[in-house]
Amino acid sequence: MSMMIPDLEKYFSGFIPPRDALLLELEEEAARESIPIVGPVVGELLHILARLAGAKNILELGTASGYSAIHLARALPPGGKVITLELHEAMAERAKDNFARAGLAGSIEVRVGQALDLMAAMTDTFDLIFLDIDKESYLPAFEHCRRLLKVGGLLIADNVGFAGAASFNREIFSRSGWRVVHLLAWLPRHSPEKDGLSLALRVE
Ligand SMILES: C[S@@+](CC[C@H](N)C(=O)[O-])C[C@H]1O[C@@H](n2cnc3c(N)ncnc32)[C@H](O)[C@@H]1O
Repeated sequence: MSMMIPDLEKYFSGFIPPRDALLLELEEEAARESIPIVGPVVGELLHILARLAGAKNILELGTASGYSAIHLARALPPGGKVITLELHEAMAERAKDNFARAGLAGSIEVRVGQALDLMAAMTDTFDLIFLDIDKESYLPAFEHCRRLLKVGGLLIADNVGFAGAASFNREIFSRSGWRVVHLLAWLPRHSPEKDGLSLALRVE
């Protein structure tokens, strides 16, 4: 007899964290319009990790409709800030509306443009960076992340099961100055549900 709970995926589908009406609406909208958001489990994970890290300054690459940024911003201490980068003006405008609806307009700043260019011009440092743009940009973004992340800061990379992220996965795993786990995970309502997620602590 197996020691495991039968049908693990169905079983863990019973533990989706609760969300408010706005997040549920953004999830429905994302499903309808095929917007690849992190979903409720990774959203909650981002919130927990940001709280644990005591992250006051957070950088997100890849805003979309603002779903993950809302999870992150709700974890900020007073005076904290999320800066989120989005390529498409129309999507950035939608996200801004959603941040206002969440009462978070004052703590989230959206910058529009190619994330690599926007990062190249940045000098602020961050306690946490969440990487969720096109996967081919993960490797070039990594050098900027290293420069912009404080020692002791956390880099979270979504979708590292995508082929485009393979060079990033290898690079961060082999570089000194980082402690890294690449997790293969089954994540209900994440896009996609079976994917990799990397957590990397900058230690020097
Ligand atoms: C996976 S979605 C982000 C989902 C969002 N983090 C969430 O879970 O709510 C990726 C977003 O990043 C944007 N994007 C993709 N590549 C980008 C790049 N190189 N620079 C800036 N934004 C980019 C896309 O337009 C898209 O809205």
